[in-house]
Amino acid sequence: MSHDDFPTDRPAVVTCGLPYANGDLHIGHLRTYVGGDVYSRALERLGQETAFVSGSDMHGTPVAVNAEQEGVSPEEFALDWHERYAETFPKFNVDFDNYGHTHDETNTEITQQLVRDLDEAGHLYEKEIMVAYDPVDDQYLPDRYVEGTCPYCGAHARGDECDEGCQRHLEPGEVEDPESTITGNPAEYRERTHKFFAVSEFADYLSDFLDRLEGTSNARNQPREWIEQGLQDWCITRDMDWGIDLPGENPQDLVLYVWVDAPIEYISSTKQYSERVGADAFDWEAAWKEGVSDDHPEGGEIVHVIGRDIIQHHTIFWPAMLEATDHAEPRAVMASGFVTLGGKGFSTSRDRAVWADEYLDEGFHPDPLRYYLATNGGFQQDVDFSWEKFAERVNTELVGTVGNFLYRSLLFAHRNYEDGPDADAPSDEVAARIDEAVEEFAAAVNDYSVRALGDAVTDLARYGNEYIQRNEPWKLVDEEPAEAERVIYDCVALAKAIAVLFEPLAPEKSERLWAQLGEPGTVHEATVEAAREGPAGDLSEPTELFEQVEDERVEDLNEKLEARVAESEDGDGDESDDDGGEADGSAADENDDDTDDTDMTDIEPLSDDRISFDDFQELDIRVGRIEAAEGIEGADDLVKLTVDLGAETRTIVAGLKQLHDVSDLTDTKVIVLANMEKAELFGVESNGMVLAAGEEADLLTTYEDAGPGTKVK
Ligand code: 2FM
Ligand code: ZN
Repeated sequence: MSHDDFPTDRPAVVTCGLPYANGDLHIGHLRTYVGGDVYSRALERLGQETAFVSGSDMHGTPVAVNAEQEGVSPEEFALDWHERYAETFPKFNVDFDNYGHTHDETNTEITQQLVRDLDEAGHLYEKEIMVAYDPVDDQYLPDRYVEGTCPYCGAHARGDECDEGCQRHLEPGEVEDPESTITGNPAEYRERTHKFFAVSEFADYLSDFLDRLEGTSNARNQPREWIEQGLQDWCITRDMDWGIDLPGENPQDLVLYVWVDAPIEYISSTKQYSERVGADAFDWEAAWKEGVSDDHPEGGEIVHVIGRDIIQHHTIFWPAMLEATDHAEPRAVMASGFVTLGGKGFSTSRDRAVWADEYLDEGFHPDPLRYYLATNGGFQQDVDFSWEKFAERVNTELVGTVGNFLYRSLLFAHRNYEDGPDADAPSDEVAARIDEAVEEFAAAVNDYSVRALGDAVTDLARYGNEYIQRNEPWKLVDEEPAEAERVIYDCVALAKAIAVLFEPLAPEKSERLWAQLGEPGTVHEATVEAAREGPAGDLSEPTELFEQVEDERVEDLNEKLEARVAESEDGDGDESDDDGGEADGSAADENDDDTDDTDMTDIEPLSDDRISFDDFQELDIRVGRIEAAEGIEGADDLVKLTVDLGAETRTIVAGLKQLHDVSDLTDTKVIVLANMEKAELFGVESNGMVLAAGEEADLLTTYEDAGPGTKVK
C-alpha cells in the first residue's frame, strides 16, 4: 500500500522525539527539532491540517541519575529543565502547537489506560528476570544505574542501550560484568517479577508496516534487520520510584519503563492542543484513534521526527503498542543524523558542543542556523559543524543569492513605484517558474527532504537574479517604462513566492519579507496558492534580510571553539555522552534520497604523492555484477555480496547496509578491486573490494556495455 501524496484530507500530527529533561540543549539536539518544525510548517504551507507536538521526557534513569548527582529530587530537577526547554525552542522559532511533559496528569492517565488496554487485550505477561542490584547500597540498578559490557558486540554499554557500540536496545539482565554507575560497586543479578509486552507476536505486522513506512530509509533498513534476527519481548517495568506507576496490581511498586510513557506523550500533547483550540480546530482522537472519524477511520497522518539513535523504539516497540491498542499507525519516521565537531560526537560533560544559548548570545539570528542545520546534507547524514561552513552557507546562499535578489528587486521597485509595480499577473515565464518551485516544494515534502525545501527556494532566487540581470529594468525605466514595470512586477511576484516557500526554513525572515511586500495577514497563514498569486501590497522600503558573517568573526568563534575542543580532548577525547544529537564518530551514514550534492568545502585537497603507471597496473580493477546481496547477522553496516567477475564469482563484504536498500543491489554493475587482500569480517571471508565514492557510498559503475570481468584501465 502506498500513501496518498500530501496534502491529504486527514489531520497530520508531526512529532519530535522528546528531549530528556536533564541538561542544556546544544545545536545537535536542535537539528531534530528544527527538522520537525520545518517539516510541519511545510505541510501547513501545502494546506495540510497539521498539529506539531512534543514535550519533555521527565522519567527514567537519564533524569534520575543526573538529579541524584545534583542532589535534588528528579521531579524538581526535570521540571526545571522542562521550563528551560519550553523557553528555548521558541527562540529558535521551533513553534510547537503544544509542548507538554510526560509527568503531567494527561500523560499519566493516557499511559495507564493504554497499559490497561494492552493487558486486557492479552499482550502483557509476567516473567521472572534477573535485574542488577547493588548489595552494598541495597539498591536495584535499572538502565543507566548500571554499566557493563554489551553481550552482542563487546563494547562498553549502558544498562539499556549499547550507546558506544552496536546501538542495540538492551533488556534488563543483558549487560555483562555489571557495575553501579553511582557507587562503582560491582553489581549482582537478583530475580524479580516484571511485566513484559509480547512484541514478538507483532513480527509479521511490523514487517508489513515497514513496507508501508515512509520517511528516511535508515528508519526502515535497520528495523528490518532486527525483525529478521527475531524480536524479543519487551520488559515494560522498572524497579524505581520515579516514573508512572504500573496500573493494577503492583505488589513490587514498579514503575513503567520510561520508553512506555515517552512516546505516549505524543498523544497526550496532541490532546492538550485539542483541548486548547477545540476539537473543531483539531480533533486529537480522530488523528490518533482508529474508527473515530467516519471520513478517515484509519486515523491521521502521523510523522515522527527523531534522532537516528532511537529508530528501534519508533519502528518496533511504539508501532506495536499502537497496533495492539487500535491506534493509528505512523505514516513516516524521519531519522536525522547527528551533528559532530571535527568528526566526533558532541559531549555535554566535556563541554565539546556548540550550545543553543551560546549561538544566540553571540548575537546570531535563529533563521540562518535553521537553514544551515536543515539543508547541510541529507537529513540522515551527519553534519560536521564548523563556523567556516556555517559562514560560507550564510554568505553565499542566504546573503549572496536569496538576500541579494530580494534587496535589489525590492529596492528598485520601491524607488520607482510608490504603490508597488502594477500588472494583472506575472508573465507566463515567471508564472511557470513559480509553479515549478511550488512543485519542487511539494515533492520535497512528499520525499521528507527538508534539504530539498531549501533548494526549491535558493534555486528560485538564483533564477530571480538571472531574470533581473537579463531584463535590466534599470535600463528600460526611462525609455520603455511599461516594460520596466512588467519586469519589476515579475521580480516582486518572485519575492512573494520566496516569502511563502521560505517560511518553513526561515519563518521570522519570511514574515519580515511579507511585511515589506505589504501583503495582508501573516505568511504563516498563507499556503502555496499565495505564492502563485501576483503581489498586491504597497511596498515598504526594504532592508537587507540576512547579515554577512565576516571572516574576523569566524576566526574569533573558531578560536573559542577550538580552545574548548582541545580542553575536552585532554581526556581520552573520543566519547560522546549525550542523550541525542551526538554521534559515534563513524564516518559513513545512511543514504538518503536527498543527498546528491557534495559540500565542496568538505573536499580534501588532491594528493601530491604520485604513483607510477606500473603501480597502477598492479591494481586489478574489474567490472562486476552483483548476483545476490544479503545482510550479515550481527553487523549493522555490512552486506555479503555475490559478485560475478566474468572469470569467477566472488564473495565480497561491503559496508553498504545503512546506505543502500539491500534488495535493490542485485543486478547492479559495480567496479571491484579484485586483488585486494582477503579479509574476514563477521565470519565471512571478503575476496575483493567494491569501489564507492564518498560518505554515502555512491557505487562506481560503468555507463555502456562493459560486462563482468572487463578490466578498468
Ligand atoms: O532518547 C531520548 O532522548 C528520549 N528522551 C526520546 C524519547 S522520544 C519519544 F518516544 F518519546
Ligand atoms: Zn553492542
